[in-house]
Order: sequence, then structure tokens, then C-alpha cells
Amino acid sequence: MAESIAFSKSADRATVYAELVPQVEALLSGETDTIANLANVAAVLKEAFGFFWVGFYIAKDGELVLGPFQGPLACTRIAFDKGVCGHAYSTRETVIVPDVDAFPGHIACSSAARSEIVVPIFSGEQAVAVLDVDSDRLADFSEADSAGLNAIVRIIERHCSFG
Ligand code: SME
Repeated sequence: MAESIAFSKSADRATVYAELVPQVEALLSGETDTIANLANVAAVLKEAFGFFWVGFYIAKDGELVLGPFQGPLACTRIAFDKGVCGHAYSTRETVIVPDVDAFPGHIACSSAARSEIVVPIFSGEQAVAVLDVDSDRLADFSEADSAGLNAIVRIIERHCSFG
């Protein structure tokens, strides 16, 4: 298994996502354990982009439960109809929130988080988890992040199993 990732330190995010995708594919191809793979994906995204918080919530027994993450302490359980995570999970759509204070129902795990993107993860037709990324800067996420994180989530879907 690769012990480090390589990426351009001063490149734009779309370029860095394109560099990461084959490395994440290789990383996850070498391991079948879902928790190990999610933990490494969180580490890769934290290292490459320095996000304030990056991690997973996994659907279990009717709610979203905290999974592997990088960053400060986080809320452990989120109802399917609550917060940005619940919104992305239940609408099955990637959600970009430029200003979390302006999103009704945003769950503030940390008062330092200012903007957020959440990408649903599927097993077949079923939403089974979400990838959640928080920034301490306003409006930090764009369509480049949506495309890049969705590309990474498609790799996760092929190599991980949930539930
Ligand atoms: N802000 C999220 C909760 C999870 S934390 O950001 C890690 C939400 O509103 O769903």
C-alpha cells in the first residue's frame, strides 16, 4: 500500500482532485475493510486541502451515525431530516452551503465552521452514508469540489460496503 499521497501544493482544487482520484482508487483497491478505507479517504482529503473537518456519517438504525473523520470533535448522531447532512441524505443530492448560519437547521458541531458541502453515498439506489466537509471560511466550496468529491465517493461506493 502507498504510504503517502502526491499532489500539487499550489494547484487549483480541480487539478488536485484529478491527481487524487487515481491514488484513492489504488488505495481502496488494496483494502476491503470499509472503516479502514473511509479513515484513509478522510486523511487524504484533510492532507490535500487542509479542510477544517472532513468525515463520514453512516446510516444506521434510522439515523446518521458519526464514522471516520479528521478534525475536531463532532456530533455523533444526526436525524435523517436534520442538518445539512440529513438534507443531503434525504434529498439524495450534493448540498453546498456557502454560509452555514443562513441554512435553516444547520447543526453547529463547531462554531468555527462557516461553509459546508455534503455528498450522499449510495449502495445501488439506496443512500447509505454521506461525506461531509466543513470549512472555516465562508463560501469555500464550488462545483469543482462537488465534482471532485463526487468522483471520490463513486470510488468509495465500489470498494466499501455499508449496513
Ligand atoms: N453541520 C452538519 C453536522 C455535522 S458537522 O458539521 C461535523 C450538519 O448540519 O448536518
